[in-house]
Amino acid sequence: MDLLNLCIKDEVLKAQVVHILSPLVIDKEKCGKLLDVFESELDKGLEYGLAGSSLQMENTFIPELLDGSEQGRYLALDLGGTNFRVILLELENGKIINETIEYYSVAESLRLGPGVNLFNFLAESIKDFIDKRDLASIKRMPLGFTFSFPMTQTALDVGHLVNWTKSFNCPGVIGEDVVAMLNVALDRVGVKNVAVVAILNDTTGTLVAGAHDSPDCAIGLILGTGTNASYIEKADRVIRWGEGTTREDNVEQVVMDPETGAFGDNGCIDFVKTEWDRQLDLGSLLPGSFTFEKYFAGKYLGELARIVFTSVMEQIRQRIPESLLVIGSLTTKDVSDILESSGKQEMVSDETSYAILKHICGILSERAAILVAFTIATFLNRMSRAHTVIAVTGSLYKLHPCLASRLEEHTRRLTKYNFTFQLCDDGSGKGAGLVAAIAQRLGNL
Ligand code: BGC
Repeated sequence: MDLLNLCIKDEVLKAQVVHILSPLVIDKEKCGKLLDVFESELDKGLEYGLAGSSLQMENTFIPELLDGSEQGRYLALDLGGTNFRVILLELENGKIINETIEYYSVAESLRLGPGVNLFNFLAESIKDFIDKRDLASIKRMPLGFTFSFPMTQTALDVGHLVNWTKSFNCPGVIGEDVVAMLNVALDRVGVKNVAVVAILNDTTGTLVAGAHDSPDCAIGLILGTGTNASYIEKADRVIRWGEGTTREDNVEQVVMDPETGAFGDNGCIDFVKTEWDRQLDLGSLLPGSFTFEKYFAGKYLGELARIVFTSVMEQIRQRIPESLLVIGSLTTKDVSDILESSGKQEMVSDETSYAILKHICGILSERAAILVAFTIATFLNRMSRAHTVIAVTGSLYKLHPCLASRLEEHTRRLTKYNFTFQLCDDGSGKGAGLVAAIAQRLGNL
């Protein structure tokens, strides 16, 4: 699929549209600059965190992956989107032999209401899950909690929320330890046998779940509602190990959570920011934050395409279909459908306008692929491994017709190391259970 071909006959109009859209093109020079800035922000983040960089570079306190000795039953929670999952994993020799998943939908009133209500809801869902399966009689159930928001960690089981992102904004949680909040809620609903032994991010969960299937896995990537990628870093490069903590001598590597979604919040990549990105940010739930994520993640790509389209149509003095004047009327799923020429044809019946809309979806998707590729290539270059598996999941990655192939092609262009992207469905949830098992093995109980 050629993402960058604008199929309209009128050559003058074509040139005009191409010119208007040119700020969205990431050429070789901008790409080189992005690579340099990312690497430099990454190093500054490893030393100072958010005090010196837009990349938080948070230590996950996971120094090892599965070693094949993990046994027993573990609970896992996965919170980050509109669905919350509770999972029961059964492990034998480090392998998952049984898995039970239940989904609980998180209403908007919980995503935007007081934090205490959200945590009560999580605890009630766990209670429901346990009661339905007669697990209450088990003396102690270790639980891993995937909480897909930026946190500051000082241990594997301590995570203070830095910022809400995506569609969450519950007052009373920023700065708090979410494990402590969950423990209080569990106590409140009378769950006595669950021990929260690990808190992690979905990218970390995906990395660990990816390693369960392929030992070469060293990167976990999420391209969904939000975006982020974890990777394995040499411990001696992690200068800011974690407030009030010191690294144990035998720890050689550790999984790092960079929080790439916030890359550029300090203005360091404003050279790729367009007026349309600014407009999207101003209309978002949390303006001024998560710059990188707002360039392409699933929560934003559709709306960004709508903003760009209406602006182009205005500039070329064409009629804008009324339905597309409504905020949120174009979703990221629509972007995928339009690229396959099946979406929104009823809304944009004029052939030329539809071709322009499709072209905008293509340009924004190509920009997305390049933006993600240079972060992944940077990790591959830093790790210098002979072969790396990148475990990846998320609705954007899975539903987009060609993002995956464009991402692979651009990544290949930016690194000399071998790699394979491997779809890891449900990795974020499974990974939480696996990390709970690793925690138990490492004696973090
Ligand atoms: C969050 C990250 C998460 C990513 C993918 C971002 O909005 O800040 O912690 O990994 O979304 O879900």
